Amino acid sequence: MISIKTPYEIELMEIAGRIVGETHRHLEPYIKPGITTKELDELAYKFIIKSGATPSFKDYDGYPASICTSINEEVVHGIPSNRKLQKGDIISIDIGACYKGYHGDSAWTYPVGEISTEKKMLLEHTEQSLYEGLNVIKAGARVGDIGYAISKYIKKFNLGVVRELVGHGVGTQLHEMPDVPNYGVQGTGPILKEGMVIAVEPMINLGTREVFMGDDEWTVVTGDDSPSAHFEHTVLVTKEGFKILTKR
Ligand code: MF3
Ligand code: CO
Repeated sequence: MISIKTPYEIELMEIAGRIVGETHRHLEPYIKPGITTKELDELAYKFIIKSGATPSFKDYDGYPASICTSINEEVVHGIPSNRKLQKGDIISIDIGACYKGYHGDSAWTYPVGEISTEKKMLLEHTEQSLYEGLNVIKAGARVGDIGYAISKYIKKFNLGVVRELVGHGVGTQLHEMPDVPNYGVQGTGPILKEGMVIAVEPMINLGTREVFMGDDEWTVVTGDDSPSAHFEHTVLVTKEGFKILTKR
């Protein structure tokens, strides 16, 4: 079942989403060579708590931190550690916050100092693919339309669209129905309705689309060690289109 949120639930989800967006903005100036991912995690934890929310990811299936920090060939679910960011890295930061029982979820990939032209291209196209996916959303559209739009856009650049991980509904649970794949067939899949809230989150590799699980049983890495980017927004489906709840 795909939940339809009431106006009051939507108010709470707007606040949860705003806190996630503000946490991203809070972290951004710290994303520089020399900072450790654990330091970023602590900054995020404090900011989320101070905002009256709790970090959605902490203890989710035993996840040990507040945010996910995935560097270079790490696709998603990198665990914050004492690793220091280096100039030329890209880092995907995934943040979830729960406000009065409702979640917001958003990931963004940041450059660390000056990065290669290839990595810049990867970030630009992955961010754009998120908007390509979002732009087809409105009441009456289908979930397959989203993945189709993302894959169609990415195909032009010969990048790898990860299939093993997908977007999802968001609400009182961080992950709700429906699954929102980043590939698909137009006119297929569940019908979107006004009041649904979903997270769209393309994960795109500079190389092949293959990924595998790292030794820590959390970190997903690319099969060919190529860099990977991840952009995610939680959005409300409206009659005419959509509203981004996790605006930065
Ligand atoms: N934003 C991530 C997702 O939607 C959630 C991180 S998984 C966790 O897949 F286990 F770290 F919480
Ligand atoms: Co998500």
